[in-house]
Amino acid sequence: MSATAERVWEFEWRDQDFKFLAGLLHDKTGIVLTEKKKEMMYGRLVRRLRALKLASFAEYCRYLQGPSGEKELGFTLNAITTNTTDFFREKHHFDYLRDIILPSVAAQIAANSGHHFRIWSAGCSSGEEPYSIAMVMRNILGNTARNSKILATDLDSNILGLAKAGQYNGKKCRTTIPAFYLKSATGKTGDSGENMVQMSNDLKKLISFRQLNLLHDWPMKGKFDAIFCRNVMIYFDKETQDRLVRRYATYLKADGILFIGHSESLLSVPDVYECLGKTIYRLLL
Ligand SMILES: C[S@@+](CC[C@H](N)C(=O)[O-])C[C@H]1O[C@@H](n2cnc3c(N)ncnc32)[C@H](O)[C@@H]1O
Repeated sequence: MSATAERVWEFEWRDQDFKFLAGLLHDKTGIVLTEKKKEMMYGRLVRRLRALKLASFAEYCRYLQGPSGEKELGFTLNAITTNTTDFFREKHHFDYLRDIILPSVAAQIAANSGHHFRIWSAGCSSGEEPYSIAMVMRNILGNTARNSKILATDLDSNILGLAKAGQYNGKKCRTTIPAFYLKSATGKTGDSGENMVQMSNDLKKLISFRQLNLLHDWPMKGKFDAIFCRNVMIYFDKETQDRLVRRYATYLKADGILFIGHSESLLSVPDVYECLGKTIYRLLL
């Protein structure tokens, strides 16, 4: 296609439809969709147009504003989220958990067996992040981990279904989960056999998966020792990011730790967090 040639869309996709959808999705999720994402959005939403037998994006925009709009919005949000993730992604966070945070938790549990340790994986996608946390917790805390809990939340209901099921491609698991942890991770494989790895019940018991939009109310009671919010804020505008990290501060215990993604930073909130090293922050308040 020459630089001047117009892109031909199978379904009419006008600038105003793109702007309407980008605005709606920004309001509902905080996700910023610039012109550069126009092609991506088309690709992800076109299936909905086909399923609903609609002839254009203008019709889809009207459908979203009609009586079925609220229900449809769930599909739109699920289609638009980017769910890329992996086990032990940004390994240094899990090293910090293993070497710094959990030994002191183990000592506190030894002194008081009722001690509760709580972690939140905010934007957990298909579950690789919370299962990685659970593997490290089981390894360091052993059976005493039962008093510890991981809350794993995401906006996308489809991806949460995969996270809850906890079945992953065997090859991916063998290449990303350290062999040492993989043994404890593996429960009985289901019908899909050896090509799949099923997360064990011991790990599953540590995690509660919930749907939660980070822009809405947070119903959780009690504070967290650590929050993982990695590679989520990168999709938000600056103002939403700042609001979110200040809000996390109110959900962290004293000295609580916030882990963020490799391309995110908390430079704008130096009054709230102290940087402990690559993308690891401690609450100052
Ligand atoms: C790229 S994944 C990151 C997964 C994992 N934290 C990691 O670093 O590997 C981003 C996740 O954020 C979720 N997300 C995006 N906007 C959200 C919002 N407003 N509330 C809750 N989750 C959201 C997406 O559904 C997606 O699963």
